[in-house]
Amino acid sequence: MALRKRSFDSLLIGAGGGGLRAALQLSQADLRVAVVSKVFPTRSHTVAAQGGVTAALANVLPDNWHWHMFDTVKGSDYLGDQDAIEYMCRAAPRVVYELEHFGVPFSRLDSGHIYQRAFGGQSRNFGGEQAARTCAAADRTGHAILHSLYQQNIQAKTHFFDEFFAIDLVLDGDGYCLGAVAIEIATGEPILIEAKTTIVATGGAGQLFRTNTNALVNTGDGMAMALRAGVPLQDMEFFQFHPTGIAGRGMLITEGVRGEGGYLLNSEGERFMERYAPNAKDLASRDVVSRAIATEVREGRGVGPERDHVLLKLDHLGSDIVKKRLPGIRETVMTFLHIDPAEAPIPVYPTAHYTMGGIPTNRYGQVVVPEQQGAEEPVPGLYAVGECACVSVHGANRLGGNSLLDILVFGRAAANHIIEHLRETRYHRPMPDGATDPAMQRLARWNQQGKGESVAGLRRQLGKIMEEHCGVFRNEEVLIEGQGKVRDLRERLKHAFIDDHSQIFNTARIEAMELENLMEIAMATITSALARQESRGAHSRIDYPERDDVHWLRHSLFSLDGDSMDYKPVRIKPLTVESFPPKKRTY
Ligand code: FUM
Repeated sequence: MALRKRSFDSLLIGAGGGGLRAALQLSQADLRVAVVSKVFPTRSHTVAAQGGVTAALANVLPDNWHWHMFDTVKGSDYLGDQDAIEYMCRAAPRVVYELEHFGVPFSRLDSGHIYQRAFGGQSRNFGGEQAARTCAAADRTGHAILHSLYQQNIQAKTHFFDEFFAIDLVLDGDGYCLGAVAIEIATGEPILIEAKTTIVATGGAGQLFRTNTNALVNTGDGMAMALRAGVPLQDMEFFQFHPTGIAGRGMLITEGVRGEGGYLLNSEGERFMERYAPNAKDLASRDVVSRAIATEVREGRGVGPERDHVLLKLDHLGSDIVKKRLPGIRETVMTFLHIDPAEAPIPVYPTAHYTMGGIPTNRYGQVVVPEQQGAEEPVPGLYAVGECACVSVHGANRLGGNSLLDILVFGRAAANHIIEHLRETRYHRPMPDGATDPAMQRLARWNQQGKGESVAGLRRQLGKIMEEHCGVFRNEEVLIEGQGKVRDLRERLKHAFIDDHSQIFNTARIEAMELENLMEIAMATITSALARQESRGAHSRIDYPERDDVHWLRHSLFSLDGDSMDYKPVRIKPLTVESFPPKKRTY
């Protein structure tokens, strides 16, 4: 049977904030734009972003983009590329005002200006007093942004393939990306979506870990597609653990709680962050706070029958502030813990939250691969934006509120680059015979029935292994053992089957392909973590406790070919200002 085919100027894979921001820009430029999403677009994970989007608007306290840049470079533990960070921080106010015009219902100050709250790692005057830089729509900022962007895209006539799962990118023999093969989940019918440019915007891979803040759909699909297309993944050892997930369950309790004045307590009733970060205290950057909580628990000062968590106290804020600024948190805590956080503290523990690494791109969103003598070349026709990409503005540790900013700034930048590119590129390149074969073979693999280990069982094991072997603290022995276990699971998945007693539903096929994706990302993450013999940002090696700029101030690159590692330099030079050279990082 011939493969159904549709053709567009630009294909977006993923309908989160990055995909929709890019799609909007492209559709408004009268290009024919398709968005493929495995869930209905407004269910994409951006909808779960709570605390806000950072921009130096100075609505609450003095601020400017250069201070924002300093904080982001320092937060990244100096691994972020300073040209991309400068670009992002300068563009931030503009993309926030654009959102306001798209209809995002930001919370307001009495003056009518956009409300901004304090978040971790934010300072005034290059490391001075706390700043208030995070623009919020109560504690449902991602929800507000995603719905507004979706509505704008409907108006701009973006074409949506809702509940279609992208299987693989399609490339020609010269390495041009020609689009992707997807499957319609309801019918199981595959489709080739041919496009002059393709943007991967599939989000992160939080489902690697058993306890996480992420939607079930966050299975690293785009990153795995890039790996299979021969693109190495950058900085995958840097996985962010958000300090405050609901203990044992992982649901996100926004940093906005601490931004509004909440703080952490150990079993002795001590506000312990004062010891770890004397100036910023509970608003130190996330890696610092997560390590502090894990250390308190390891040293026996945890709370509860198992002494396995700490408490986040906010009852002193008063129920009016909790209801006005943190209504979603109150609802979540009342639903899952049956307590009112305006009256009783929340049990919290670090939880897997954000993939700092990803598909390497330049600041125009073009996917880049290493060439000879340290140079990089764009993969023609292929772009990546948002959490699946590594541009790299977050380096070894992302600051809260910079993820929504990243998707907006680089979604827009990638679209602008494509608009320019398509002025010259009027025709689709020919689709060579056999170009879709790898994707179709991947799909066919999961049409077979038979007996074997269950896909769901393997997924559960993967989450546990990653949690136990690649968590907040790591060491060589634990990582080597974990890498062996992931390798074993990856082999076993090749012989696994979907339950043959029932009809094979397409959703079961999708879950099997998602697990294949997760398996590749797990191997990239744990192999990169094993290779990096230093502690930097979120990558904390007990056996190499210091940052080592002499040997490790460089980006890592993991390739599927032999699960091998390579490295490339950090871009220390910003676009127009002086570099921030690496310094000891204290808060
Ligand atoms: O804590 C939060 O609201 C999460 C924000 C973020 O990850 O940027």
